[in-house]
Amino acid sequence: MNPVPQPFGLLAEVTHQCPLHCVYCSNPLALRDRDDELTTGDWLRVIGEAAALGVVQVHFSGGEPLVRGDLETLVAECRRRGLYTNLITSGLGLTESRARSLVAAGLNSAQLSIQGDAAESTDLVAASRRFDKKEEAARIIRESGLPLNMNVVLHRLNLSRLDAIIDVCVAWGAERLELANTQYYGWALRNRDLLMPSRAQLDEAVGVYERRKAELGEHMELLWILPDYYERYPKPCMGGWAQTALTVAPDGMVYPCPVAAEITTMEFVSVRDHDLEWIWSKSEAFEAFRGTEWMADPCRSCPRKETDFGGCRCQAFALTGDPARTDPVCVHSPDHHLIQDALARANRADVGEGGEPDREKLVYRRPRAPVRR
Ligand code: SF4
Ligand code: FES
Repeated sequence: MNPVPQPFGLLAEVTHQCPLHCVYCSNPLALRDRDDELTTGDWLRVIGEAAALGVVQVHFSGGEPLVRGDLETLVAECRRRGLYTNLITSGLGLTESRARSLVAAGLNSAQLSIQGDAAESTDLVAASRRFDKKEEAARIIRESGLPLNMNVVLHRLNLSRLDAIIDVCVAWGAERLELANTQYYGWALRNRDLLMPSRAQLDEAVGVYERRKAELGEHMELLWILPDYYERYPKPCMGGWAQTALTVAPDGMVYPCPVAAEITTMEFVSVRDHDLEWIWSKSEAFEAFRGTEWMADPCRSCPRKETDFGGCRCQAFALTGDPARTDPVCVHSPDHHLIQDALARANRADVGEGGEPDREKLVYRRPRAPVRR
């Protein structure tokens, strides 16, 4: 039996509704309907159970969490229980009065996402031209007294605009910018061949990141989230399966990470049927890959097994159909050719270094069947 650690963070995915349609969204392809969402009362109970379990941070996410009119009630409950709260938002739907009421309820921080440096690049990846709303949201967040944290997902279609993206965040007064290279799950995996950068494009972007980081110093913190396909070893995903955090999906299903709903060979449990403590410490799905005892070779006999925990279970499932296999990103994985094949396609001479692939082929996130533009 593996020792059961205490979770630190709860990702509360309060809804999958969203005004944007990002081609790299990590939400499952089968988005949850509004009718399936947990009620306010359900969420209040979940927050109480999370606090009892040892959670200290709650990240409200989605979809777009601002779609829920009861967000202030949930934030206030977190405050009452001494939990730190963070709002992960597209900014669409954030008004001055909404920001005031969220801050009054006790919201501690907000993270605003952008897709690029202008309306055109936002439209390309999110099928929305409301870049003006994002600028307005940045102003509202700053004027509400919250620190402005920003995030941009990087890929083939916007990496060459990295300098301009950083300029936008500086101009808007961001204190911190997360440069998150795309992780290929959900909708991003669906669009992988169109989003995967070439090696040359990536190397150039790393140069921009390092130069701007040195220039900006303490003025704005820049964070570079590694593009794992180009790494030799996988990322220690989530700090290990069911070690530090848990995700509650809009319909109440509980997962060790935001992507695990895609692992269709495992049975997960809902807060409608069990409390969080039981799900975290006793459910089969959470126990399945905790620690290192579940590992087969090459991970079992590898000196890095306590460093990267065999990589990402969701990526192993997405690429091989078996969540117990070594993450194919690892050079020692027998499935590593799957990564090399994807990179070979991204670096083909006829695609061109940093060239843009065919936009018409992008599949945009939609509530029902995925559709092309
Ligand atoms: Fe990590 Fe397993 Fe690869 Fe070793 S073999 S580096 S533990 S993924
Ligand atoms: Fe689920 Fe890595 S994203 S374990």
